[in-house]
Amino acid sequence: MRESIHGQWSSRWAFVLAATGSAVGLGNIWKFPYITGENGGGAFVLVYLLCIAIIGIPIMMAEIMLGRRGRQSPINTMHTLAIEAGHNPHWKWLGWLGVVAGFLILSYYSVIAGWALAYVFRTATGTFTNATPDGIGSIFGNFLADTESLMFWHTLFMVMTMIVVARGVAGGLEKAVKFLMPSLFIIMIILLGYAMNTAAFGAGIEFLFKPDFHALLYYTDDFGVERMSWNPVLIAMGHAFFTLSLGMGAIMVYGSYLPQDASIAKTTFLIAGADTMVALVAGMVIFPIVFANGLEPGSGPGLIFQTLPLAFGHMPGGVFFGTLFFILLTFAAWTSSISLIEPAVAWLVENRNMDRMKASVVMGIACWLFGLITVFSFNIWSDITPLYMFETFRDKTLFDLLDYLTANIMLPLGGLLIAIFSVWIMHEDASVDELNMGEGLTYQIWHFLVRYITPIAVIIVFLRAIKVI
Ligand code: PHE
Repeated sequence: MRESIHGQWSSRWAFVLAATGSAVGLGNIWKFPYITGENGGGAFVLVYLLCIAIIGIPIMMAEIMLGRRGRQSPINTMHTLAIEAGHNPHWKWLGWLGVVAGFLILSYYSVIAGWALAYVFRTATGTFTNATPDGIGSIFGNFLADTESLMFWHTLFMVMTMIVVARGVAGGLEKAVKFLMPSLFIIMIILLGYAMNTAAFGAGIEFLFKPDFHALLYYTDDFGVERMSWNPVLIAMGHAFFTLSLGMGAIMVYGSYLPQDASIAKTTFLIAGADTMVALVAGMVIFPIVFANGLEPGSGPGLIFQTLPLAFGHMPGGVFFGTLFFILLTFAAWTSSISLIEPAVAWLVENRNMDRMKASVVMGIACWLFGLITVFSFNIWSDITPLYMFETFRDKTLFDLLDYLTANIMLPLGGLLIAIFSVWIMHEDASVDELNMGEGLTYQIWHFLVRYITPIAVIIVFLRAIKVI
């Protein structure tokens, strides 16, 4: 049995908390509602839930298993496990794919988390009290146009992330998440109470839960012709990876600090369950507010920043709850961003002999610089759409493309390779031993899903989205 040089979680619970901290973040509260709004609602949600169940959960188990077996950064874990299975050490490139994906995601994640941070102060100073939808929309628009302001909040958030990463993930994280996740959940339930009292609660719920596959799969092109596309299905699948932090080594590296006796299956169910709950509640809060105020569900990345302030501006105690909400959202983003960069930092410590402090600073600065692309995508570069010649990407800014590349291509690809490695390359006695749940039905189901269903599903969705089949 190997030991990690980076230490270990104090218990299974510490891991559950940290991994939940990684999973629950902007993906649940910011991204899930806006992509659901852009892709027609209920059917999109259904596909996303299906992907969580048959792809996300099995892959999460596989990632934790590989991490705990290798007990190193994903790059070195893959290298070690491949050799152990008598295979080519080039599997380490799977680790690299994840490191690059994590880096790219953090570069934009930090910018959006910066928005949340900025909104803490806006809400606290009563900016939204009694504001109209138009007023709130123009506050958001002016904010995005203000390059320096976006840079300032992006900087602040990146510095916050690096401070925690430098000190090691185990220490403060455990305590922070233990208190944070329940608080975030409580405040979302309070918001749900507000949403229930709007005139459009029913309409919001219907949008979210009534599947309309036509709205998912068809769109009208410039000539008014109706066309079919699987791109939204790919987005739903990509989001299942994104929201559970899968396919890039974050959960693998956290798994490498997991005590040997913890049950991987139970742990996975807890994490995936909590993550899904938060996303669904977020949707149930946002869409009633959208419809009650005649807003556009498909209005894009600004959706929560244009809807939630309305609730805070009109509900009793809105300044207090609103401020608290954005603080908690920032925290949720914080505990996710730490895990995005941990695979890279762990590798620098292992292979480049750096201390954590130096590794974090190096990665932080590089990631901050790269993040400027996202900052500019919302203002001075908002007209730059490099892939305009392809219909799917026509209006996509550099930020949109980064998001698409990472969430919809790199993460599912990483997940596909993780699935293949876990059951086709790694010896079965190794996975039985590490998953530690015997060879009964649960193991058999897992094995079947990871061996056939997950890879086939990912490949079909990929091929359909690029219209090969
Ligand atoms: N799961 C996080 C969220 O939903 C984002 C994330 C993706 C974190 C990949 C780590 C790895 O916000």
